[in-house]
Amino acid sequence: MSYQAEYRRSMDNPEAFWKEKAADVSWIQPPTTIWQSTDNGHGQWFTDGIINTSDAALDANIRAGRGEQTALIYDSPVTGNQSAYTFNELTREVAEFAGALKDRGINKGDRVIIYMPMIPQAVVAMLACARLGAIHSVVFGGFAAHELAVRIDDASPKALITASCGIEVQKVIEYKPLVDKAIQEASHKPDFCVIYQRPQVTAALTEGRDIEWNALVEGATPASPVPLAATDPLYILYTSGTTGKPKGVVRDNGGHAVAMRYSMSLVYDAKPGDVFWAASDVGWVVGHSYIVYGPLLAGCTTVLYEGKPVKTPDAGAFWRVVQDHGVNLLFTAPTAFRAVRKEDPEADLMQQYDISTLKRLFLAGERLDPATYDWLREHTNLPVLDHWWQTETGWAICCNPVGLELMATKPGSATFPSPGYNVQVVDFKGSQMPAGEQGQIAVKLPLPPGCMTTVWGDDSRFVKTYLQPIPGFYTSGDGGFMDEDGYLFVMGRTDDVINVAGHRLSTGEMEEVVASHPAIAECCVVGIQDNLKGQVPVGLVLIKDGATIDHDELEEELVDMVREKIGSIACFRRALVVQRLPKTRSGKILRRVIRQIADGEPFNVPSTIDDPAILDELSDQFRS
Ligand code: COA
Ligand code: AMP
Repeated sequence: MSYQAEYRRSMDNPEAFWKEKAADVSWIQPPTTIWQSTDNGHGQWFTDGIINTSDAALDANIRAGRGEQTALIYDSPVTGNQSAYTFNELTREVAEFAGALKDRGINKGDRVIIYMPMIPQAVVAMLACARLGAIHSVVFGGFAAHELAVRIDDASPKALITASCGIEVQKVIEYKPLVDKAIQEASHKPDFCVIYQRPQVTAALTEGRDIEWNALVEGATPASPVPLAATDPLYILYTSGTTGKPKGVVRDNGGHAVAMRYSMSLVYDAKPGDVFWAASDVGWVVGHSYIVYGPLLAGCTTVLYEGKPVKTPDAGAFWRVVQDHGVNLLFTAPTAFRAVRKEDPEADLMQQYDISTLKRLFLAGERLDPATYDWLREHTNLPVLDHWWQTETGWAICCNPVGLELMATKPGSATFPSPGYNVQVVDFKGSQMPAGEQGQIAVKLPLPPGCMTTVWGDDSRFVKTYLQPIPGFYTSGDGGFMDEDGYLFVMGRTDDVINVAGHRLSTGEMEEVVASHPAIAECCVVGIQDNLKGQVPVGLVLIKDGATIDHDELEEELVDMVREKIGSIACFRRALVVQRLPKTRSGKILRRVIRQIADGEPFNVPSTIDDPAILDELSDQFRS
């Protein structure tokens, strides 16, 4: 079917469309009610369907005769290990671990936090929770103890699963002290913690609370998949918003499974048996959707890579993985290839490997800059497909629908709306912008299956953040335009969220940390352009009258504070002392103008500005 025909069907009769797509997933009881809306235009998919996502992703493949096919390949250049699990083996491990959790009192609806590096046990833990109907919340291993504490308090988990350490190139990061600190800081205390001991570090256990993974699993009776309502939550994944408090994006079981299965065909044209590699981390939505759930639901082999695009050991790492495992489809963030290109501009290292199995490259997570796109096209000669999505949606809002037909690409564009998404570029009243003109990118309600159902524990925040700003629409927080051919160009966030090396971070959260320094009177953090990471945060700080502190010393202290509170992934490395901040007459900081000045871009002096002379002062400071 052509893309246009499929898209039209999804718009004209969404219920028939999604009923048909739901048939590709293994249900315990297929749904008869496809969609039930609520007053605000939102609603629930597949309300009377019964499913278990662990069953649909694992056992269903065994039932389909794929038991001996490799389900998961673990490749870890940082430890020198490689291993593989068939669907039979992975299902066994997951069922055993689920049984062990169940013996410890974990049941449907309980929350479990998973704070783990990129090791197979992280995937096993996620799927084991799914098997029991327990709601997992994976916290990215690069977040500091405070961030973990915030998530513990919000999700109130019964258990926390971690490992003794993560490995960053050559740096061994002990997780247990971070977990202890987080639990100490949090008001909520998990009943117990499971620790997977890695050979590099043996974590000391806290008596009465901690138990080693192997000891927990010993003698456990494998658990069968628990039948769940399609609308029961599968997971919570926290993402940065504009305030200091991250939002717990909730995803259901049924809609998610259907969306994952469909997107594997539509967006990636993945077939059962294909080797699919999303070079990301299980702590991010890309990892949830396309390291764990999507590929397994589609009967693919997924690759779990504990390494970097460079330095593990060099910029040939990705090509080596492709060759070693016969990767067919590779998905990563543009920043990863910018790092590769920087170290291997002529792609000489690529020539050392046989990458002939690779059919397509997929990029998302941040804007795909034309230079990286061109470099990849030139050196791989493969289709390089940009797609745009968010933690909130769980799968591509816009893509090049290669599973239906490969559309001509336009560098800088994520191509067309995926079937199911009525994407429009509008103003805040919901009126459509003419082709080529920038506005808010919004999706007319209802959202398709797989998208967030609410914010954990705070549905009013969900409504206020996403549904109220433009009535009748889901507000994406991204701005951009559609050209006259209907191609969507995403130009960046319209809020205070920044994207650092494909990691979504809140400048508001960093501001809260910086403002807590005793010498700071006022501050603002903006994301400025960076050739490698896309954006990096920079702080502008005003020192309190009478505070005497050396500026370099202050910068160092602020950098340490952000590392300590948020984590090194924030890449907060610069704080500039300024005399004044540009503001409107009503006192609002002009962040956009600051960003434009920092990036050396032309800017309009806003008519509402309090004192235009500040802009010249700032320009001078950034130039120096
Ligand atoms: N656990 C602990 N610390 C982590 C971490 C993790 N999982 N991931 C990153 N960090 C730390 C790093 O050690 C580094 O710490 P440092 O400041 O003490 O050196 C800091 O966070 C920044 O790391 P990183 O963003 O990896 O920067 P880098 O300069 O070391 O590497 C890239 C640059 C481009 C190679 C790297 O950012 C990268 O691989 N990006 C791809 C990201 C990605 O796949 N995103 C996908 C989301 S879809
Ligand atoms: P996250 O929720 O961490 O996946 O981040 C989502 C945000 O990343 C989006 O709101 C966009 O700002 C940005 N983003 C993701 N994919 C793209 C893309 N293909 N092009 C431009 N921006 C993107």
